[in-house]
Parts: sequence; structure tokens; C-alpha cells
Amino acid sequence: MKKKKPWGGRFSKPTEKTVEEFTESISFDRRLYKYDIEGSIAHARMLGKIGILKKNEAVAIVKGLEGIRKEMDDGRFSFSVELEDIHMNIEKRLIDKIGPAGAKLHTARSRNDQVALDIRLYLRDVIKEIIGCTSEFKSVLVDKARADIAVIIPGYTHLQPAQPVLFSHYLLAYWEMLERDRERFTDCLKRVNTMPLGSGAIAGTSFPVDREYVALLLGFDRITKNSMDAVSDRDFIIEFLSACAILGMHLSRLSEDLIIWSSQEFGFIELPDAFCTGSSMMPQKKNPDVLELVRGKTGRLYGNLLSLLTTMKGLPLTYNRDMQEDKEPLFDSVDTLTSILRLLTELISGIIVKKEAASTAASQGYMWATDVADYLVEKGVPFRTAHEITGKLVGYCIQSGKGIKDIEISWLKRFSDRFEKDIYDIITPEAGVNMRRVAGGTATEMVLKRIREIEEDDL
Ligand code: ARG
Repeated sequence: MKKKKPWGGRFSKPTEKTVEEFTESISFDRRLYKYDIEGSIAHARMLGKIGILKKNEAVAIVKGLEGIRKEMDDGRFSFSVELEDIHMNIEKRLIDKIGPAGAKLHTARSRNDQVALDIRLYLRDVIKEIIGCTSEFKSVLVDKARADIAVIIPGYTHLQPAQPVLFSHYLLAYWEMLERDRERFTDCLKRVNTMPLGSGAIAGTSFPVDREYVALLLGFDRITKNSMDAVSDRDFIIEFLSACAILGMHLSRLSEDLIIWSSQEFGFIELPDAFCTGSSMMPQKKNPDVLELVRGKTGRLYGNLLSLLTTMKGLPLTYNRDMQEDKEPLFDSVDTLTSILRLLTELISGIIVKKEAASTAASQGYMWATDVADYLVEKGVPFRTAHEITGKLVGYCIQSGKGIKDIEISWLKRFSDRFEKDIYDIITPEAGVNMRRVAGGTATEMVLKRIREIEEDDL
């Protein structure tokens, strides 16, 4: 027999099965069950406190809801598409379990403020989890930066060798990015942590509800100040999805570098075997599929953000059923991002850096050129002229196939009479790195200082 809809009163015909299938959300919003129950328990307690429910009714409802939670925890609950969504599945079960008192739970509440509450409760937990994963990732970066402090790599702009940098400096660049990501999530959490219940369907409720009490029971920092805003906006999810997309973008770029560096042509790093896969045809292959999928799945994170922005952009105030489409992109971003963070954290800590190969590469590519030009400037040559002279010198090296260190001083003086023997001291990758002692620069001393700062802040 067809289940009676909680909203069925004004209808004379049953809903088409195809319509039920098209409009249902229980297949995905069942994921919110813990939060829906937590919210309903707080609502029932409040209704008991203000006398709308008798004490024994409130107690029966709370006990009933706890029983339903147990059924769901144990996988014993049978979810019904006819009952549309998680809210009505739970309400109907409550009425079946405890009788008429259950039918009073929805007093002074609409699914519109209820669903807004559920998502906020869910997001609160999820954001804390993502902040935790991000922090773990950051500590792996610092540990690795400390362990590999002696490794110099070529730094690139336009993917052309630019200037030598410490590998640790590179890793800490990501530390800084991820710290800002963490801040974005923390900031988003402030706005998520606002309690919407009491807004009803749109206009609030005529019952003398105690919204502050519900907020207190559920650990919210504040209550929403406008019922129409509270039931109609999803900007807090959009902010979250945007923070996910930005973090994904960072991790995707990191993955791209690691893919390049682990290639035979670069060979600066060795990826842990357990995080690579082989080819079904080519026996020699060790492919960086995890990193490629991090890059690939970042597309989903962007798509999810765009999906909700698009869903929301034309909606007349207040609630519209379109907004049910907020959940799948949200859940997908949560799943995608948490698995990316967990996998990458392990992968990074298992990377082996090939110090020799990296440092050989760092001594090629004429990366001394900026320092040679700066050297001439210090000897009184105007920068533009110094740039020109050094350019000619690079051209000569390319043509003759020589490194600058193999060119005698007498020959160097043909390019500029300001060259002295001390030029040979500044053309090594080590010198190139360690002369950059500016705050935020790549000198070992500065990078170690930053590592210490980070470690002290973490204490
Ligand atoms: N399943 C709905 C959603 O996710 C719950 C709110 C339904 N409200 C309504 N007026 N039909 O948005």
C-alpha cells in the first residue's frame, strides 16, 4: 500500500511514481540523518521547555528519535522514496513508533528551516574535518622541508630554468598556500555556525519559540536575523565549495610539479611505489596516476561550485525546490577533497628526493645569469648594460658549449673589464640560493628561520 504523504491532506490523487522518483532526495540526503535527528531533538526539547509539548511528549519524542538514530546507525532502517526526503522519512517513522506525540514534533517548523539547519550542522563537522586534514598535510610539508633542507632544485618560470631554489623553499610555498586555505575554511565556519530554525517556511512562526535556546543546545554562535534570508540563501555552501575549489587548485598544481619531476627526463624525485600504478601493456611503466587523478578531480571541485552558483542565480526569494540540488555537489566535493588530502599527505611523506640529480640540474640552464648581472651592477655597471653583457655571455656559452666556470678570467674580461676572480664564487647554485637572504627569500638561513617560526607557532 502507498504510504500517506505527511503533506497529503489537500490532494485527492496519489503522486505519480515517476514524479516521486524525480523529486526524491532520500537517496542522497539520508547522509544527513544524524544532523536531522540532532536538530529535531533540540527542537523537541525547546517545545517542551516553552510548554507547547508536554514534558512526557518531549521525552517520548527524544527517545523515539534516539531509537531511529540507532536503527539508522545499524543499517536497519528502511528508507522510502515515497516519503521523499530524510526529514519525512524520520518524521513518519517517529509517528509509527511513538504514536500521536510524534505528530507534534513538526510544530513551529518547516522543512525549509529544517533543511537549512541540517546542512549547517553537517558542514560544521565537515569543515572541522577538512581543517584537520589540511593541518596534517601542512605538518608533513614542514617535516619534509626540514629533512631535505640541503637539496637545491632548479626553480622555474614559464617552465624554463629561472633561478636555483631550495626544495624546502618550494615545499614551504605550499605550506603558505595551505595555511590560507585553512584560514578560508575557518572563516567560512564562522558564518556556517548560525542557527536558522524558527524561520519556518518563510516568515517565521507565531509560536513563542525560544530560538536562542535551540542555538545553545546545538552549540551555534548566533541565530539568523531574517527568516527569508535564512530559508533562501545557500551562500554558506557556495563559500565552502569555493574554498574547496581553491584548495583543490593548489593541490593540483603541486601534483603537476611532482608528475613532471618524477619523469625520466627530470628525475628529481622518486614517487613511492605504493602510490603508483603500472601499465597493462608496457612492463617498464610506473605511472603517477594518483597525482594525475588529483589534478583530474579538481575539475569536479570547480564543477560543483559552478553547479550551485548556477542553481541559485535566478531563484526568486525565498525557498524553491531547485535548492534541493545543493546537496549532491556538496557531498561530492567533501568526498573528493577529503580523499585527495589523505592520499596526498601519505604520498608526499613517501617521496624520495634525488639530491644529486636535482643539484646537477640546478647548475645547468645558465641560472647564474641574474647573479652575474647583479655582480656587474655592484661593480658600477648600470643594470640595463649589465643585462646586455650577461646576455652576450650566455650566448657565448650556448655557442661554445662551455659552462661559465670553464671560461678563464682573461676571456671573461672581453665581455666586461669589471669581471674579477671573485665572479667564480657566485656562479654556483649554493651561492645563488644563499645570497637571497631577503625576508621570504630562498637562502638556507631564511628557510630555516621560517621552519622554526612555523614549528613554534604549532606548539
Ligand atoms: N528535500 C528538500 C531539500 O532538500 C527539503 C525541503 C523541502 N521543502 C519544500 N518546501 N518542499 O531542499
